[in-house]
Amino acid sequence: MKSGVHTAQRHDSALKHVTGQALYIDDMPEPAGTLHAALVLSPIAHGRLRKVAVPPSPGVVAVLDARDIPGKNDVAPVGSDEPLFATDRVFYAGQPLAMVVAATLDAARHAADRATIEIDAEPAILDIESALAAKAYVQAPQTLLRGDPDSALKSSPHCLSAEFTVGGQEHFYLEGQIAFALPGEDGDIVVHTSTQHPTEVQHICARLLGCDFNRITAVVRRLGGGFGGKESNASWVAGAAALAANHTGKPVKLRLPREVDMVATGKRHPFLYRYTVGFDGAGRVLALDAMLAADAGWSLDLTPGVVARALTHTDNAYWIPHFRAVGYACRTHKQSNTAFRGFGGPQGVVVMEDALDRIAHRLGRDPVEVRTLNFYDGEGDETPFGQKVEGNLLPRVWAAVKHEADWARRRAEIDAFNKTSPVLKRGLGLFPVKFGISFNIPHMNQAGALVHVYSDGSIRLNHGGTEMGQGLFIKVAQVVAEVFKVDIGRIRPSATSTAEVPNTSPTAASTGSDLNGWAAFEAANTIKKRMIAFAAEHFGAAESEIEFADNTVRIAKPGSNRVVSFNELAKLCYLGRVSLSSTGYYKTPKIHWDGVKMKGRPFFYFSFGAAAAEVAIDTLTGESRVLRADLVQDCGTSLNPAVDLGQIEGAFVQGQGWLTSEELWWDKEGRLRTVGPSTYKIPGSRDAPAIFNVRMLDNAPNTEATIFRSKAVGEPPLLLATAVWNALKDAIAATGDGKTAVRLDAPATPERILAAIDKLKG
Ligand code: MTE
Ligand code: MOS
Repeated sequence: MKSGVHTAQRHDSALKHVTGQALYIDDMPEPAGTLHAALVLSPIAHGRLRKVAVPPSPGVVAVLDARDIPGKNDVAPVGSDEPLFATDRVFYAGQPLAMVVAATLDAARHAADRATIEIDAEPAILDIESALAAKAYVQAPQTLLRGDPDSALKSSPHCLSAEFTVGGQEHFYLEGQIAFALPGEDGDIVVHTSTQHPTEVQHICARLLGCDFNRITAVVRRLGGGFGGKESNASWVAGAAALAANHTGKPVKLRLPREVDMVATGKRHPFLYRYTVGFDGAGRVLALDAMLAADAGWSLDLTPGVVARALTHTDNAYWIPHFRAVGYACRTHKQSNTAFRGFGGPQGVVVMEDALDRIAHRLGRDPVEVRTLNFYDGEGDETPFGQKVEGNLLPRVWAAVKHEADWARRRAEIDAFNKTSPVLKRGLGLFPVKFGISFNIPHMNQAGALVHVYSDGSIRLNHGGTEMGQGLFIKVAQVVAEVFKVDIGRIRPSATSTAEVPNTSPTAASTGSDLNGWAAFEAANTIKKRMIAFAAEHFGAAESEIEFADNTVRIAKPGSNRVVSFNELAKLCYLGRVSLSSTGYYKTPKIHWDGVKMKGRPFFYFSFGAAAAEVAIDTLTGESRVLRADLVQDCGTSLNPAVDLGQIEGAFVQGQGWLTSEELWWDKEGRLRTVGPSTYKIPGSRDAPAIFNVRMLDNAPNTEATIFRSKAVGEPPLLLATAVWNALKDAIAATGDGKTAVRLDAPATPERILAAIDKLKG
């Protein structure tokens, strides 16, 4: 059997993806009478809503706004501060005001474009600084504190303070937000939705319609990418489609065109940082006092979790005895920012990277040595939030990446190059990561699965996780193949549905395979135990003598050498009236969290990684390129090395985009003007590092009892792209005296790189 866990299986839909045969929601056949919806959006960032009117137009069946919502006009994932359609006030340019439902997509969009909208504009807060000045927050500031940073800073031999910013990031999933709602009997609605969180879609549809959850079924076969952007934002899109289906009694599809998707939905949170760090003459950090201010946008959405993850990742790989990080969730009149791969973690780890580079420059020391000096070492150091750093692989990934990147030699070579190259400068950056795995809301760490073995031995697998390209379905199928010792082809993953597995958590926080893998294991193992009990009785053997291997079941009884196929045993079990269907359930052990004190053990375990990046910059144009990257990522014992490798590569390049080219730009009125790929630059194939060495750390089974000792991989490697940012600062520093630290705000666009060079030259 070559298709169980730890084998390099290709994605179950790989061929379908590349041949166009994978069905996305917009590919589904439309039943007769299907209607199409289009949104009317606010053109103004803040103001009093007077009127929205859609002129009569051919094909239009209904125009819906807040008054047409039979239940509660609220689509907030946490709290209840987010109306589906604005009522008396609007809070950002792009906010949905109403929806047109028409016989054709063209008719719906045509009518929506011709809506007359009257809004009395009011002053808008459009940036973090203004929000801080006005104390405009979506929630009270959160503080993560250990020790006495004030006194420790006072007594530190050296101190420095700095400030910088990082930008947001559009998810740019290839398949935009979409939902297709089909009304049934007695008010039932089935919603096909491109969501990471089917259960929340179910809840929000029910909330809008004022009905029980059991009337709504949310179904997800696959998403054309989510990246966090369909964790909460898919719910209101699905809710709007369900509202229209309920209102008209017809199937209704709502698909947001790219520019509507970009202006209406939230993005990664931009952050502003100010910090003071105290250190000794060797570069050892003694205290950190940092403030991290996130642009939450107009509503709460998932900001509390994002800020909490930023704060719990500010320490990253480094032991900081006295620590204070205060997280501000700034309320602005912009899109409500949301989950994005890393969920605040990437925005947390950059603080210490900036600080350590500055410390190295101040002391005239090697930034790599300064980093190493500050690592959590050995076992059991505590993070500022009180969790012990166990299974610490930092020293291993760090040593591996330095070796593989041939660091010492290339450092010398690049320094020599820079001395003789006036226009082009090269830079090197090294970066370690420690990323916590689990939702830091403990109750979210649970999952369910449903497995059926049919009487021909074929297996149907269902679980609460969603497939968004990350390979979750194949990984969980491998777990089931491993349990039954059958070929992967015998297992058919099926669309995620709230009707099959209820009360699920989003597929997020990289926990998909950890949670659903175990739940599926439990389900399959329950069935297997029944099959074993039956076989033992049927063949007159002991249970311990029933062995599953290679699509067969062997009765390993002395004297007997009977072998039946798995399929035959399934048939025999059916005839013997044995249930071949089971649910499975898993909850993550050991975790607990006090969100007010910000102490506990929010993470079941940590994932580790390290990256070395080399960049070149053109000091006349500010353009940059990543020449080489070496990555070592801890995946525990990988469930599927092929899929995990793809996740590492993709995540790194996506992180590179965030830190270098992807710039969101709003005009003075707060209107987002980068609404498509022409103005918003996601990385292309040529932006991937020219030399790209990616490897999983071997011999690193998870020290915690995760499914087959694997580790989550979806998000951590995105953070590795921080090495590129470190390398760019190194290259820019080479244009100065080499002793001055560089402020480089992200994204490091050519303009920002030029400005940083200019500043260095005074
Ligand atoms: N990979 C692909 N191809 N598409 C995606 O949308 N989302 C990422 C990551 N990898 C994503 C992806 C994010 S944000 C998360 S949290 C994880 O996948 C979720 O899936 P997992 O928990 O199964 O790893
Ligand atoms: Mo991923 S940001 O947790 O969906």
